[in-house]
Amino acid sequence: MNDIPAYKWAIEASGIQRNYGTLEVLKGVSISIEKGKMVAIIGKSGSGKSTLLHILGTLDAPDAGEVSICGIPVTGLKSKALASLRSKHLGFVFQFHHLLPEFTALENIAMPALITGMNKKAAFKRAAELLGYLQLSARADHKPNQLSGGEQQRVAIGRALMNEPDVILADEPSGNLDTETSIQVHQLLRSITTDMGKSLVIVTHNADLAALSDKVYEMKDGLLLSEK
Ligand SMILES: Nc1ncnc2c1ncn2[C@@H]1O[C@H](COP(=O)(O)OP(=O)(O)OP(=O)(O)O)[C@@H](O)[C@H]1O
Ligand SMILES: [Mg+2]
Repeated sequence: MNDIPAYKWAIEASGIQRNYGTLEVLKGVSISIEKGKMVAIIGKSGSGKSTLLHILGTLDAPDAGEVSICGIPVTGLKSKALASLRSKHLGFVFQFHHLLPEFTALENIAMPALITGMNKKAAFKRAAELLGYLQLSARADHKPNQLSGGEQQRVAIGRALMNEPDVILADEPSGNLDTETSIQVHQLLRSITTDMGKSLVIVTHNADLAALSDKVYEMKDGLLLSEK
């Protein structure tokens, strides 16, 4: 059998609504993320970008609408099935990377595979390869507080790649980095789509990162407008 996935869209979402009490944050958002493409979502603070990203990543459920991940509809899935779908298909990168402080860079990257039961030797071998790809081999044994902000963010990207996800969802991945370090992280994100064929959905305020993307959407008044 071949390994070519049968789905067309990495993520497909239609008619997504999400309210917090009387606040209507998402008023019927539809978006389809193509395989191997990098998509940026921009918009004002409070416009609902993170809310949408959490829903696209199945971390939150919409009040109305449907989400499919790699052709699998998620509506009605129990939390265990959702967690398994997430660990197989999705990787997450947040603005504040949430690395585990007591573990090294290598261990942090290996963690998602160790959690899903990959044997230790294989997990550390793959984590070491990823560190090489991230140009962080020399930092393998450093703990997060011994790494720079940009290095920590690259480790977080390595961790998101560990389980070979189809899609990476990133919320402000360069939000607290200086310009030069941001450029490094942006190029790394771009190469994950171009070289590895993964899909990327990135929430960002950064115009350079949006410019590097294949498509840009703006969240406005609860709707998603296509910009590019
Ligand atoms: N758990 C929650 N309970 C109540 N309101 C919430 C909750 N989470 C978000 N909101 C509200 O929903 C709106 C959208 O929030 P969201 O975090 O999605 O915005 P955002 O576009 O990501 O903003 P930022 O650019 O500042 O990160 C905001 O008005 C926020 O106050
Ligand atoms: Mg946000």
